[in-house]
Parts: sequence; C-alpha cells; structure tokens
Amino acid sequence: MSIETQEEKAAIRGLEGVVAADTTISFVDGVHGRLLYQGYDIHDIAEEMTYAETVFLLWRGRLPNLAERDAFRSEIVAEMRLPSQVVEMLRLTPPNSHPMAVLRTAVSMLANFDPDVENLSSEANWRKAKRLLAQVPTIIADLHRIRSGLPVLSPDPNFDVPANFLYMLRGSAPTALERRAMEVLMVLLADHELNASTFTARVIASTLSDMHSAISGALGALKGSLHGGANQRVMEMILDIPDVGTVQDYIAGMLENKKRIMGFGHRVYRTEDPRTRHLRKYSELLCETNNQQELHDIARRVEQTVVEAKGIYPNVDFYSATVQHALGVPPEYFTTVFAAARTAGWIAHIIEQYADNRLIRPTSRYVGETTLTFVPISQRP
Ligand code: COA
Repeated sequence: MSIETQEEKAAIRGLEGVVAADTTISFVDGVHGRLLYQGYDIHDIAEEMTYAETVFLLWRGRLPNLAERDAFRSEIVAEMRLPSQVVEMLRLTPPNSHPMAVLRTAVSMLANFDPDVENLSSEANWRKAKRLLAQVPTIIADLHRIRSGLPVLSPDPNFDVPANFLYMLRGSAPTALERRAMEVLMVLLADHELNASTFTARVIASTLSDMHSAISGALGALKGSLHGGANQRVMEMILDIPDVGTVQDYIAGMLENKKRIMGFGHRVYRTEDPRTRHLRKYSELLCETNNQQELHDIARRVEQTVVEAKGIYPNVDFYSATVQHALGVPPEYFTTVFAAARTAGWIAHIIEQYADNRLIRPTSRYVGETTLTFVPISQRP
C-alpha cells in the first residue's frame, strides 16, 4: 500500500474487538457473563474439578478419567524441583526487585537448563509444558523463602501443585479449606481467551520461537497494572482503608481525582465476571476462619460502592486479592500466583498456535512526515 492510500486504513486502538485467533481453549461471553473452558461452564469446573483435572482439560481438550487425572497430577508434581543454578540466581537478585521481574528472569534462565528447549516437536513441547507448569510455582515459593531467610523446601508428593505451593511458601501443610481455596483460585485463573499476555505468548510462538521465550514474554505482559498487576494494587487499597465506615468516602475521593479503582472494569465483560462468585465465597470463608472478617467486609463495601457509583463490576483480580491475602501470600507475590495459574492457559495457547501456525504480523498506519529534505550531519544546527 502506498503512503497516499494509507488514509484508507485506520488503527483499531487497543485492537478492541479484533478477532486474532481461532481457539477451542476458552470462550468469554462478555454480554451474558459466561466463561467456558473447552466447552464446559466455569461454574461446574470451579465447583467440581481439581487443578490437575482442569489443566488436563485445557491441554488435551477433554475431561480425564480418574486414573488419567491422578497420573497427570503425579507427573506434574514430579517436575517441581528447580536446577540448583536457578535457585542460586534467586539468591543473587536484589531484595527489592519485584517478584514478577525475578520470575520472568528465572523462566528465561530455566530455558538454558531444559534439554528440550530448541526441540519444537509435539513430544518435546508436552515435556516442557509439564516442567514449566511445575517449576513456576516453585520459583515463587523459593524466592519468598530465600527473601525471608528461610530454607527452601522440597515438594511433598502427596500434595497437588496448589497445595504444594502453599506448603513450600509457608512451611506448613495447608488446611482442607486452604487447599480447596488455592485450587479454585488457580482453576479460575488458568485461562481467559485472548487477553494481553496470552496474545503475547501466541505472537512469540507464531515466530516459531521456543515455549520458554513465549512464557517469558507473557510474564512481561502480565506484570503491568492494567493486567495481572492489578491484584497487588487491590490489596494495597483494601489495607489502606481504615474500616467499613470509611469506604464510601475513600472511593468517592478516588473517583473525584479520576483515579482508577483497581480490580474493577473489564475489556470484555459488561456484567459480573463469572469467576467473582467463587472468589467472593472463598474470600468470605477464609477471612471468617482467620479472624479477618473486617477485610472481607471492606472489600464487599468497596464492591457495592463502585457498582453503584460507576456501574462497573469487580474483575478476577478483586477478590483474588483478599483470597491470596487470607492464604498468607504477601501482596507483592499476588501477580506471580496469577502467572503460575495462567501458565496452564499460556501453554495451551502456545501449542494451539504451533498446531496451525501463521506468523502474527499486523500492520500499522503511517502518520509521520513524508517529504522532509535530508540534511547531512555536518550541516545540522
Ligand atoms: N475505575 C474507574 N473507572 C474505570 C475503571 C476503573 N477500574 N475501569 C474503567 N473505568 C471507566 C473509564 O474511566 C472509562 O470512563 P470514561 O468513558 O468516562 O472515560 C470507562 O470506564 C471505559 O474505560 P476504558 O479504559 O476505555 O476500558 P478498557 O476496556 O480499555 O479497560 C481495563 C479495561 C481493565 C483496563 C480497565 O477497566 C481498568 O483500568 N481497570 C483497572 C485495572 C484492572 O483491574 N485490571 C485487571 C483487568 S482483569
């Protein structure tokens, strides 16, 4: 297209509404507030399924039977250990660097120790998929232990990945409620269609780059406060609100100053995000059990106030913040937990992209000058 005909093109800001891939992995119906994983409703999945079962569904496109689910679970847990050099690298990072920055570096470093990294065959990709899914939670738990001056722990083969994550992070076995809450949190965060980080992963995979590169790029996209970085900011806000009675004034003040309320609004959902129902429930149950009822009450009042004032609903980051807080995850690690869960979806999308690949390479509209006269450097003022 010549520069003269550029006028006919128009950039779609934020690619809003652009269909950029065919997928069977998940479906977001923003108008009716529905979310499907491989055709199954998220409410059934959140009520009934385990994390391993959900990942099997996302990756294989069908529900596993009992033996398949348990074998898959054991295969993943067996891959949770990290190369010692990666643990050493965690020790070398400055204590104030953000855990998401460390996680991004650690995944990139893992590539150098993975024997299959440059092998893009289907068999090698599934081996890397299991390793990455298992290693990401370990990186997060180990980083927290190291920064707290505590020894890193080995995974317990009796636990699934979510329970192992809590055990390796905190050093104590989670209760039945905590295990289920962590599992549901990871299930709900596992995939969400073509969000910014998943799109990033697919763009990288479409160049036929390796899986570790695609996940490292996705981590960079998830880190931003308009995407996965919102959950940390939600918790900071909730902890900053003195009590339930001050919520309305606090939120009114933010809205008057044109500040965004983190954990609210969504590009696709025009009604309540279906994941909110489950996260709200576990936030309430966990806060009640931990004598942190006031935090959940503040969150509920924030929700009511924002819905009334702006007509926008909480997104997945809102109650995932109070759930994680009640589970003992420090706020600066919230986005890394989102990443650990979303690694399942990123991998499903990377493999779907490889299976029917075409280089993702959009175009832009040139809006710069076209007739400038060149001036040699010696003659420039
Ligand atoms: N707080 C206050 N106002 C908000 C808002 C929020 N969290 N989210 C959207 N709005 C308002 C905008 O100010 C805008 O109002 P205006 O038309 O009067 O200017 C309107 O709603 C549309 O917002 P826009 O930014 O165009 O929507 P988007 O589709 O680009 O944004 C998000 C989607 C997620 C980026 C946005 O809702 C947001 O910034 N949320 C907070 C961050 C967050 O929680 N991210 C996690 C997403 S899962």
